[in-house]
Amino acid sequence: MVETARQFLGRDDVDSVEAILADDSIDFGDLVHPTPARGDAIFTWDYERSRPGLAKLYEKAKTSQWNGSNDLDWSTPVDPERVALEMAPAAAMFQQRMAELPGSPVARWGPKEWTQFQVEALNWRMSQFLHGEQGALICTAKIVATTPWIDAKYYAATQVMDEARHVEVFSRYLDTKLEGHYPVNPALQLLIDDIIGDSRWDMTYMGMQIMVEGLALAAFGFMHHVTEEPLLKKLLRYVMADEARHVAFGVLSLQEYYAGLGAAELRERQEFAFEAALRMRDRLMMHRVWETMGVDRRTVTEFLLGVRRMRNNPFQAALFSKIVPNCKKLGLLDAGDGWLRDRFTDIGVIQFEDAADTGEEYETFDEVVKDRAAG
Ligand SMILES: [Fe+2]
Ligand SMILES: [Fe+2]
Repeated sequence: MVETARQFLGRDDVDSVEAILADDSIDFGDLVHPTPARGDAIFTWDYERSRPGLAKLYEKAKTSQWNGSNDLDWSTPVDPERVALEMAPAAAMFQQRMAELPGSPVARWGPKEWTQFQVEALNWRMSQFLHGEQGALICTAKIVATTPWIDAKYYAATQVMDEARHVEVFSRYLDTKLEGHYPVNPALQLLIDDIIGDSRWDMTYMGMQIMVEGLALAAFGFMHHVTEEPLLKKLLRYVMADEARHVAFGVLSLQEYYAGLGAAELRERQEFAFEAALRMRDRLMMHRVWETMGVDRRTVTEFLLGVRRMRNNPFQAALFSKIVPNCKKLGLLDAGDGWLRDRFTDIGVIQFEDAADTGEEYETFDEVVKDRAAG
């Protein structure tokens, strides 16, 4: 039987410049953005604690709660430009490539413009972390309601608290330490809307715990590694300790659930993972930042779109370094003749398939317990 080509993201061509630019004009509201949540709330009468992996994670979460008000020193003075420039070396190669393009819009940029670009990029990145954290807050509240397993309801309840704390600390850092906010990136919000709008309970896990949080964990890890700003460094370290548990929650739960799915159902999960990866690729184009800097969105999109070029932009590709091994661990890379493996090869991120997965990694991240033991 000849397989009919399926449209992804509702686009005839996933690399369509017009489609990507069209997403930018979606209105997500000035103050609120209502989006349909689908899926039944499931009550379970089976209170048996039958999932030791999740139970262990729940115990860990209960003793790893930190308090953003007391555990972080908000009196730390922060120089936003200095923090922004710490990210510069990683972007240098990309900037040089971009400047060398024939007719490049940034060919004449000097250090002043690139510094301003980094400051805007920092504001943008932290703003997207903030909005993504709110997405996680809402998704995990949904998981509490929709997962059929009692151990998963218990664990997800701790994650709701974690995510509230993350929204709180990113919001406070943006408000009190940086000088500019950005609205939510359309690709990010479209992905979150899809995740919340899917009635299948496991899709919330797949979209949020594996894809969005996998990318966040890699991004936080990079930023934590390069920054010397003590407040941000500690904030990120604490957030990462929580996020590593969150991704582990997704891996443990989905491993069990996917083991019982048939080929057609697995394929739907693979397609969802691929669409999520495309959304995240589009998100990383940072259109609003380029626009603030006076660079046309179309030019930037065309430059960044050679998806295979992600391989030439190691900083960007590395953001997939948690997602790919976790998909592999879930059996999604190779199910159905390796359909997702081929797609990840196309978009230039398959090289991370053997990086550390996050099923157990959280055990090495428990910074709160370590700090309290030391202090
Ligand atoms: Fe979070
Ligand atoms: Fe999280």
